[in-house]
Amino acid sequence: MVRLFAPASLADTGLLGYILPRFSLKTQVRVALADTPDGADVVLGAQGHALFQGVGQQWHMQLLSPDHAPSQRLADWLRSDIGRRTVLAYAPQGQALFQPPAAAQAAAVALEFTGDAKLGQRLSREKCSRCHVVDEQTRMSGIGSTPSFAVLRSLPDWDSRFAAFFALNPHPAFTIIPDVTPALTADRPSPIVPITLSLEQLEAILAYAASIEAADLGGALVHQ
Ligand code: HEC
Repeated sequence: MVRLFAPASLADTGLLGYILPRFSLKTQVRVALADTPDGADVVLGAQGHALFQGVGQQWHMQLLSPDHAPSQRLADWLRSDIGRRTVLAYAPQGQALFQPPAAAQAAAVALEFTGDAKLGQRLSREKCSRCHVVDEQTRMSGIGSTPSFAVLRSLPDWDSRFAAFFALNPHPAFTIIPDVTPALTADRPSPIVPITLSLEQLEAILAYAASIEAADLGGALVHQ
């Protein structure tokens, strides 16, 4: 179990109640909120590694128990792309409360692809090939104007695009990741049969994308 301290101004936003169950579900590590920073394993506040900004300040993390594996796990997750996306996706009234940290600190996040790539390929065929050519087997499906996965994979920032695809157009209109994306409602109906994914399934798709050979776009296309 990890003891986490966050000041009331952060705790009161409800963010922790949103992100911690997701972390615990993934890692089986439980997190308890500490009343004071003394004796906490991980402290969110003004010092340490910049994570995100919102409610009037930039939020940092200090790992005070680096030898405690579960605490290390939480710290790694908060710094990871998926952890960061989870924070940024928190939008209690349909409005995101948090943004990436100020540019200087937004150093490249080391991405880990721990999902099941085989499962990711199956899911991609099933859920994405309506529009994207996913692989050789789905070569004849997809919509011509939609970039193939191989082309997307060749983009330098393919990883953050895949990790956040649900927030990038046109996907928000038809993609549901329970507890991450805002609900599709009567005033925001999906124009097509919606895609529903869990966070684990998204990780699997990321792992699959990592394994795809990038398309050789050639100089001309790259410079377009
Ligand atoms: C209904 C059609 C449709 C489906 C289904 C769909 N996509 Fe897309 N996707 C698009 C289109 C169109 C674009 C190109 C958007 C653009 O160029 O602005 C795109 C772009 C992308 C991009 C690049 C986004 C960017 O802005 O850089 C990624 C990554 C992506 N899709 C992943 C996925 C994944 C993963 C799935 C399945 C889980 C999926 N898409 C399902 C239509 C679709």
